[in-house]
Amino acid sequence: MSRRVLVTGGAGFIGSHTCVALAAAGYTPVIFDNLCNSDIRVLERLRQITGSTPQLIEGDVRDEALLARVFADEPFAAVIHFAGLKAVGDSVADPLTYYDNNVRGSVALALAMQRAGVNTLVFSSSATVYGQPDHSPIPEDAPLRPANPYGRSKLMVEQALSDLHRAQPGWRIALLRYFNPVGAHESGLIGEHPQGKPNNLMPFVCQVAVGQREKLQIHGGDYPTPDGTGVRDYVHVMDLAEGHVAALMHARTRAGLSILNLGTGQGASVLDVVRAFERVSGRALRFDIGPRRPGDVPAYWSDPSLAKATLGWRAGRSLEQMCADSWRWQQGNPRGYD
Ligand code: NAD
Ligand code: UFG
Repeated sequence: MSRRVLVTGGAGFIGSHTCVALAAAGYTPVIFDNLCNSDIRVLERLRQITGSTPQLIEGDVRDEALLARVFADEPFAAVIHFAGLKAVGDSVADPLTYYDNNVRGSVALALAMQRAGVNTLVFSSSATVYGQPDHSPIPEDAPLRPANPYGRSKLMVEQALSDLHRAQPGWRIALLRYFNPVGAHESGLIGEHPQGKPNNLMPFVCQVAVGQREKLQIHGGDYPTPDGTGVRDYVHVMDLAEGHVAALMHARTRAGLSILNLGTGQGASVLDVVRAFERVSGRALRFDIGPRRPGDVPAYWSDPSLAKATLGWRAGRSLEQMCADSWRWQQGNPRGYD
């Protein structure tokens, strides 16, 4: 039985960490990535961590001919599908690019798998499919009402894969809804390096701490939360990576479709993150509390109990560890892989 797993988007932030977790579990990750938001030098870092350089197939998931060749060349046990675009603002400005990349890319991949007889698939969905939730913690059967094209592209793929499973129940599919992935591998060798000004909180905090940006703008201090700042469920990227391996192993044992939240089940406010980061880095962070960011949800966090019951997985790394690992990566690699 093949131990090779095709990891689309495997050169990116979550994908590269998942390659480490796959290797630790005895799988052989094969990365399929067009490098549109990643750097080929991640391969050398993966070699330093795991002892072997993963194979990279440079290509686009919308390239049906290439996918057919990849599946014809050598057998794969499964596919983990991370490849996609993820900037909410860009998806509002250019929705067709998002539907083309995320929806058409996923359909092309599933078609190629179907033709090749590979029917085990783990898909990167997002808590963004819930939109503004009625309450937290959010269970998987909460209403789905994504508020932007990015979120709708994720929901469309979930629906397409659910329809596929209904039509062909032999498929083994896990749809994983991530909450807020942060942190880095504990070696400090791989991590997240957004291009340009970061949209997300943790990379911004890191860049302030290392002196690349003057101060953090906290988007809103008047939310109905304990300290007035927005609350999210931050989850360590290595916990997330291990969640993928658990989902893959579960899917390989039985046909079916699982939809699972991957989060800690705990909310942390922006100020909680700032304080935790200050504790682990020993640096004071400058910040201003400004107006709310349009479209932001005040507070939400996951109910992760189904993932625990189904996979035996839970996110055990603390907020301090998320900050410490992000900080180690940022200090060692202030310009990413440059
Ligand atoms: P990332 O941008 O670091 O990784 C995505 C990778 O996919 C990149 O290496 C990119 O080059 C590649 N890629 C994009 N389009 C491609 C295509 N058409 N063909 C081949 N490769 C392509 O992002 P990430 O944070 O690692 O996210 C991975 C997945 O998880 C994405 O699908 C994202 O939507 C989803 N997700 C991310 C978050 C988050 O906050 N990071 C939250 C929920 C869900
Ligand atoms: N925040 C700031 N200042 C910043 C950046 C963020 O105060 O410079 C605040 C936000 O207002 C929010 C919290 O920090 O309260 C987290 O913001 P992020 O941008 O890091 O994360 P979001 O929860 O807004 O968005 C993330 C992903 C989206 C995804 C969404 C739902 O980035 O792609 O989770 O899953 F759609």
